[in-house]
Amino acid sequence: MKNIVILISGGGSNMAAIVKTAQQQNWADKLGARVAAVLSNKADAKGLALAQAQGIPTAVLDHKNFETREAFDQALMQLIDAQDPQGRPDLVVLAGFMRILTLGFVDHYAGRLLNIHPSLLPAFTGLHTHRRAIEAGCKFAGATVHQVTAELDHGPILAQAVVPVLPEDDEHTLAARVLTQEHRIYPEVIAHLLSSK
Ligand code: GAR
Repeated sequence: MKNIVILISGGGSNMAAIVKTAQQQNWADKLGARVAAVLSNKADAKGLALAQAQGIPTAVLDHKNFETREAFDQALMQLIDAQDPQGRPDLVVLAGFMRILTLGFVDHYAGRLLNIHPSLLPAFTGLHTHRRAIEAGCKFAGATVHQVTAELDHGPILAQAVVPVLPEDDEHTLAARVLTQEHRIYPEVIAHLLSSK
């Protein structure tokens, strides 16, 4: 069985969309793949309860308990790898995981590490993407699924979705429109990658 490990920090709606698609499309039988675990750096991440309700194992590793970014990332790598019997999960999926990752972490999962970012990269890396897109007068916004490399919010683009920015939008209405598309493209990319593995 190919094992997917999903990392979250908050609401976990992308994680929930991936789990739902995996069930609906029967990834277990069709792709020999499953969501093995959902991990969070925040104990109060709402997505943890969503995952547990689906019978998916969860664990929390609080970055505040570590002195350095390197120490946290090393512990996180051990926790992630422990979710696969061979110690090598097929995909590590960042789904609203709000941490800057060390080079050691990114290297360890090279080619197996995905992220979704709520902008049309390479525009608007970092935070507050929707507010910045509105302030810049963009007529379109969107989301990007990409492979993770050492540089924040860079790395080969695997899929993008585009939505209009409407005159009456604020960052919340725009975020909601983009999020709906995130829930479509992230599972699509994962299924595609798993089918070619
Ligand atoms: C999503 O919009 C995702 O693209 C974004 O956080 C949100 C998480 O929502 N990720 C980033 O900003 C990463 N830099 P979710 O927890 O409901 O999936």
